[in-house]
Amino acid sequence: MKATFIFLSIFIVCCVAGPRYPVILVPGDGGSQLEAKLNKTTAPHYLCQKHTSSYESIWLNLEELLPEVIDCFVDNMRLRYDKDKHSTYNAPGVDLKTHDFGGTSAVEWLDPNPVTHISSSIQYFFPIVKDLVSLGYVRGKSVRGAPFDFRKAPNELGEFYENYKKLIEETYRINNNSKVALVAHSMGNPVTLYFLNKQPQEWKDQYIQSFITIAGVWGGAVKTLRLMSSGDDLGVVIVNPLKVRPEQRAMPSTAFLMPTDQFWQPSEVLVQTEKRNYTVMDYKDFFNDMNYTDGYNLRLDTEKLIHEVTPPGVPVHCLHGLGVHTPAALVFPPGGFPDTYPKTVVGDGDGTVNKRSLLGCLRWSGKQKYPVKHKVFKGAEHMSILSLPEISKYIVSVITGKR
Ligand SMILES: *[C@@H]1O[C@H](CO)[C@@H](O)[C@H](O)[C@H]1NC(C)=O
Ligand SMILES: *[C@@H]1O[C@H](CO)[C@@H](O)[C@H](O)[C@H]1NC(C)=O
Ligand SMILES: *[C@@H]1O[C@H](CO)[C@@H](O)[C@H](O)[C@H]1NC(C)=O
Ligand SMILES: *[C@@H]1O[C@H](CO)[C@@H](O)[C@H](O)[C@H]1NC(C)=O
Repeated sequence: MKATFIFLSIFIVCCVAGPRYPVILVPGDGGSQLEAKLNKTTAPHYLCQKHTSSYESIWLNLEELLPEVIDCFVDNMRLRYDKDKHSTYNAPGVDLKTHDFGGTSAVEWLDPNPVTHISSSIQYFFPIVKDLVSLGYVRGKSVRGAPFDFRKAPNELGEFYENYKKLIEETYRINNNSKVALVAHSMGNPVTLYFLNKQPQEWKDQYIQSFITIAGVWGGAVKTLRLMSSGDDLGVVIVNPLKVRPEQRAMPSTAFLMPTDQFWQPSEVLVQTEKRNYTVMDYKDFFNDMNYTDGYNLRLDTEKLIHEVTPPGVPVHCLHGLGVHTPAALVFPPGGFPDTYPKTVVGDGDGTVNKRSLLGCLRWSGKQKYPVKHKVFKGAEHMSILSLPEISKYIVSVITGKR
């Protein structure tokens, strides 16, 4: 009788019970929907709204990227820098926030407008959530999102981190005291590493089942130097890089994700101009020569946050693509620094993050009590990796305890 009972309970745990370990999704740079409420006295263009009665989607609302409207977008998104306080603040009259913390709506799609959801190019965590739901996971209960203001770096995400910790503890509790799997993409990985580095080992032992890192930026990415210098067209031909540059270079997250001297040698040229070359050791001059000294302050504020890439102290599954042309150095034409779009020297990576940075997780092997598993998805690009069926399958194997 007793034997039968044990057999039955094992059977139930193994195969019938739907969700095993609940999941929290942590988005990357640009991966959380943002909403803004406006009460502005000035705007760069007569087309720009100055007042709204409620919070309205600002990122990513594809309409906001249309040629003239983009000036309004940039003015609303651009952070201001206070160099005495070493912190950033919103444009005057702009109140900006994420929404649905703990739910998944702010991280499944980049654009909240359902009309755009026929295009797979702006889906974000949706394919993964869809697969988990088909296994019995429930949005907001056993699969949850931790959106944050991705313009900021960990030094300014204090409130987010408090909520993130509460979310993990609550998710554990409402799922029958089951440990939680953290699934992060891109910048969500260093943001989570910073968090885990600050938690006591006993807390991590109790609450974290695994840290599934997808396309993690462990040592920065050369692409950020383009956001800082010429501005980046976001791969959208209609976007004029110079127009979006003020917003891109003012984000502490851009500075946070610059290549680090733990991953690049002082001999490697990252930015080449007619007058001089810049390496990972030359950021001060790089910003001075562009007359953008706030940029260097932002870099100083953020460069030490995960600099040593300290092991997270939890079971790790490090997943990423490779074999995609990725910016490895920028070459500006004579007289063209920094306002001309540079030529890109490409190297290996996932199209956004350089190979050496993606491989940063391997430094933890043997340096923590939990295993670090690694899997490369050949040819998988930085964003579209989230739509790969193999990624969903891998996640499912981890959260059902099979891997
Ligand atoms: C909008 O800002 C003005 C000051 O510029 C202030 O007097 C007014 O109360 C604000 N309105 C709202 C709805 O916050
Ligand atoms: C909750 O966990 C306990 C102990 O692990 C187990 O005995 C029980 O069956 C679980 N309940 C559900 C609803 O999964
Ligand atoms: C910059 O580096 C390139 C190759 O890395 C070299 O050919 C060039 O002479 C250097 N330019 C300057 C100004 O040092
Ligand atoms: C930076 O400012 C100096 C002095 O105002 C000016 O001569 C120089 O051309 C500027 N450089 C750039 C890259 O804008």
